[in-house]
Amino acid sequence: MKQKKRFVAGNWKMNGSLSQNRDLLNALIETVKDADSDVVVFPPAIYIQQVATILDGMNIKVGVQNISFEAKGAFTGEISLSMVKDFGCDYILIGHSERRTLYGETDADVAKKMKVVVAAGLTPVICVGETLEERESGKTEDVIKAQLTSVIDEIGIEAFKNAVIAYEPVWAIGTGKTATPEEADQVHEFIHCTLKAYDDKISDLVRVVYGGSVNASNVDSLFAKENIDGALVGGASLEAEGFTKIALA
Ligand code: PGA
Repeated sequence: MKQKKRFVAGNWKMNGSLSQNRDLLNALIETVKDADSDVVVFPPAIYIQQVATILDGMNIKVGVQNISFEAKGAFTGEISLSMVKDFGCDYILIGHSERRTLYGETDADVAKKMKVVVAAGLTPVICVGETLEERESGKTEDVIKAQLTSVIDEIGIEAFKNAVIAYEPVWAIGTGKTATPEEADQVHEFIHCTLKAYDDKISDLVRVVYGGSVNASNVDSLFAKENIDGALVGGASLEAEGFTKIALA
């Protein structure tokens, strides 16, 4: 498989402030300006306008951490795809494990979100991954497959044409425990094989990135693996030096 352009994204989760965002982005603008990777940040939605303004014309793009699959109406607390589009978001994170476990997002919800993002021509970054219990009982592949096929069954393999898939083992998120490069690579390969059964070309195009305690020290060994096309970074994306190292790795 030919080498793809790497995708490196910072998921800020519920962190940041006007001044912290400004300082972080001003540092990153300088340090990652020559990055070969696609670099994206996912701030909390309330800061999208600030972040998009600071990044205007820069090589760092902005995305949103979640959207509603509804177009508009009586959905208190939700934001729609057209709203985030208004502010120049190119990337939409879908199905992060925190959304799935803390807010009860189901595979069916994830498929509906994929559908609206794909229809709008934006790039979905869809997260899949198993819990520790699922891994220990040998169910990793079944879980990943179910997460992918629920989308394919709903909207077809075409949904993945322009997508990024983030493999994020739940047990590695925010825990300081990373999957070994071999463990991650194996699941990434499985993801490609799952897509290949539907469409060879799409499987080759899709970037599969790893997430779960990625930092400046472990990034090189992860990126050395053939099937790891980048990273979705939480904690380490809040600090310019570490995130820069990952973006330039
Ligand atoms: P982490 O988070 O890097 O802090 O483990 C990754 C993620 O949740 O996307």
